[in-house]
Amino acid sequence: MDIRSAPLESLTDAVFRRVHHRLFGGVEKYYIPFVSPTSHHCFPPREMRAIAPESNAGVPVVPQVMTRYPEHFIWAAQEMSDRGYDEVNLNIGCPSGTVTAKGKGSALLREPDVLRAFLDEIFTHAPLPISIKTRIGFNAPEEWGALLEILRQYPMKELIIHPRIRAQFYKGEVYPEAFQLAAETGLPLVYNGDLFDLPACLALQEKYPGMPMMLGRGLLANPALPRQLKGGAPLSVEEVARYHDALEKEYSAIYPKDQVHCKMRGIMKHVACCFERPEKMAKMIAKTNPYNYHAAVEKLLQAPLRETPGFVP
Ligand SMILES: Cc1cc2nc3c(=O)[nH]c(=O)nc-3n(C[C@H](O)[C@H](O)[C@H](O)COP(=O)(O)O)c2cc1C
Repeated sequence: MDIRSAPLESLTDAVFRRVHHRLFGGVEKYYIPFVSPTSHHCFPPREMRAIAPESNAGVPVVPQVMTRYPEHFIWAAQEMSDRGYDEVNLNIGCPSGTVTAKGKGSALLREPDVLRAFLDEIFTHAPLPISIKTRIGFNAPEEWGALLEILRQYPMKELIIHPRIRAQFYKGEVYPEAFQLAAETGLPLVYNGDLFDLPACLALQEKYPGMPMMLGRGLLANPALPRQLKGGAPLSVEEVARYHDALEKEYSAIYPKDQVHCKMRGIMKHVACCFERPEKMAKMIAKTNPYNYHAAVEKLLQAPLRETPGFVP
């Protein structure tokens, strides 16, 4: 089974990737949340750290780039190649209003001609194999057929599909028939979306045997999910405690206390979904401040794990 860790900006950072890979494993590739190059042709310090080979030592990562300008993408791809990466991922799925206002991310899906011209340029000039992470449309799922016709013209390494439209952000039903349409093209696909627990992943594998799966919130909630899918042990409370402490130790070496709390709270409110009364537990962690956070985690670790640990929206 081929499992990928989805990029989640501010959550699946280098510390998360290193600690998860060391403690749990089972992930073929971790996608680094997007960097967004500009005409200045330099990365800000935060992005520089995220893509630095030393931040990702020993971890199989794929850098992701988000832009609407081919020359910025080609520059960034060269920077990734210079750092030793062998693939670059293009983000044309991000739904965020600040991103789409600049015509980036999923905004490219509502401008098919711009998208085609962009892809023509980057597939001609980028120095690395390109994979693409997309949605199935901006305003309506009916846009997908025409978008897929464009996408299939390019020799992409992989097409990662989150079968929602931009207007849905990460909520509402996915469109399985849109993914099926893509599966019929023979493109090398990766499925992403709502694979929150073991049964959901197994159902996808039953429908599409061998299909690579990208897990976002499900992996963040249950870090043992990839391992278990590969026949390993399920999550235990003891390892949640070890995982928590390892993350906190690495964050504390980099950030001041309040930022460490923000980082830990962001991850642990997802992990809290694996415990009984998941909504209540997630809310308890989400409400913490740096002073009462550890008491809340203690309380969480006293609770039993759910039978099917995973993300609860
Ligand atoms: C907080 C947050 C940050 C995200 N950041 C990125 C990102 O940097 N790049 C990207 O391609 N997708 C990003 N995504 C989308 C995820 O990669 C993924 O497509 C989405 O969570 C759906 O997968 P899931 O249902 O397995 O969580 C983000 C999603 C969330 C909720």
